[in-house]
Amino acid sequence: MRDVHLVVLAAGKSTRMKSARAKVFHRIAGTPMIEWVLATAASVRPTTTTVVIGHQAVELKSALSSQSGLTFVVQEPQLGTAHALLMAEPTLGNQTGTLIMLYGDVPMLTPQTVTRLLEVHTAADAAATVLTAVVDDPHGYGRIVRSGEQIARIVEERDASSAERQIREINSGIYAFALDGLFDAVRAIAPQNAQGEYYLPDLVAIYRRRGRPVETLTVSDADEIRGINSRAELAEVSRIVRRRKNDELMAAGVTIEDPPTTYVDNDVSIGEDTIVHPGVSIEGRTTIGVACEIHSGVRIVDSRIGDRVVVNNHCVITDAAIGNDAHVGPFAHLRNGAELRDHARVGNFVELKKTVLGAGSKSMHLAYLGDATIGANVNIGAGTITCNYDGVNKNPTIIEDGAFIGSDSQLIAPVTIGKGAYVGSGTTVREDVPPGSLAVSAGKQRNIDGWVDKKKKRTGSA
Ligand code: UD1
Ligand code: CA
Repeated sequence: MRDVHLVVLAAGKSTRMKSARAKVFHRIAGTPMIEWVLATAASVRPTTTTVVIGHQAVELKSALSSQSGLTFVVQEPQLGTAHALLMAEPTLGNQTGTLIMLYGDVPMLTPQTVTRLLEVHTAADAAATVLTAVVDDPHGYGRIVRSGEQIARIVEERDASSAERQIREINSGIYAFALDGLFDAVRAIAPQNAQGEYYLPDLVAIYRRRGRPVETLTVSDADEIRGINSRAELAEVSRIVRRRKNDELMAAGVTIEDPPTTYVDNDVSIGEDTIVHPGVSIEGRTTIGVACEIHSGVRIVDSRIGDRVVVNNHCVITDAAIGNDAHVGPFAHLRNGAELRDHARVGNFVELKKTVLGAGSKSMHLAYLGDATIGANVNIGAGTITCNYDGVNKNPTIIEDGAFIGSDSQLIAPVTIGKGAYVGSGTTVREDVPPGSLAVSAGKQRNIDGWVDKKKKRTGSA
């Protein structure tokens, strides 16, 4: 097998996106466009991967700094796709083998298609192989002009005659090139077109004139090579990607009641027999176990959820971990290091931050639990607040196994409630409560006999 070198073009300004951010940063199902492309690139195990950057070069380079094996070359100014490829000459000019070119704005291409492109290119011993597709609406794409069976040239929409605009076979912008003689030929491309740019597709006509073999491979699923130039196209591609993800999950045994309203990011995994109701978003690196039920209006981000967990309607769960058989919501907010152990339960209007709620423990109504470590089988009454912030520092609260916190209590941190202790309703706990004791702070209740009648007489009303 010959060496394979990958070049990804991502320097363009993307005027049509109307965005302050480079186009390739825009996300599809949670993952920036460029990362979809680089994942596909990596699947063919290239000898080198060169990313051509320009617009927002600094931001792109730092966003991709965690990915190993990438070489960045800067194209400034951006004079077209052929000019962009020439920027890779200093790094690839002395290499041999095959160059595969991908576009940063064509994110749905599959590894299988890239592999197939390589195979066709190698088998034909071609100088260039163009990946094409036949589409219903070719608007905006370069058209493949053939003479007989053979590809003759590629013409861009703006430069095409009205007859050429009828052609439904389009250029995907993805090619395999023999490195031998490539850069010399690219230098022969002139900016003779409506945009005054150096068009890489012009290489086809140049090679044909020079008698070098040019092949094509037509993809069967044209969705794969959809390019994203506008927000509308971003939305369309996102919809297709989401549908694929939902199809995969359903094939693996997940019930998705209404796929069009179910938004699941690419890296999410969900176990068998889990049921996802309409209008749910599951994002980032979330994992959900088997036989869970996720009700409508829930958003889960970067969280780990065990087996047989029920998440009731309208919960927001971010950076949280939930054990098996736990129950959450409706209307709960678990965030930033919230952890529910097995069989724990959290009910409506309960917020947890950097807090562990131990196995079998419950907080069913109206509570804020922050920076707290709560043991097993603890009951947190309605309206309990951990007062974790003193205006300067965040302080911890510890509630040991089996403790009972009465409703409407404030726990002023740092504070520890000992094992099995009770806190009476409405208590403001400022000092540690020893194991097994009862803390009360509210004053003694006083009942005033006949007060209501006396008030009526005084004011003439109730
Ligand atoms: C290009 C092709 C067209 C093809 C279509 C497929 C050309 C001239 N046209 O058109 O035949 O049907 O893709 O999607 O190639 N880029 C650079 N530097 C530049 C210009 C572009 O890096 O100077 C990058 C862009 O960031 C983008 C890619 O190249 O990732 C394609 O550029 P774009 O301007 O979107 O080309 P299209 O008009 O879509
Ligand atoms: Ca494009």
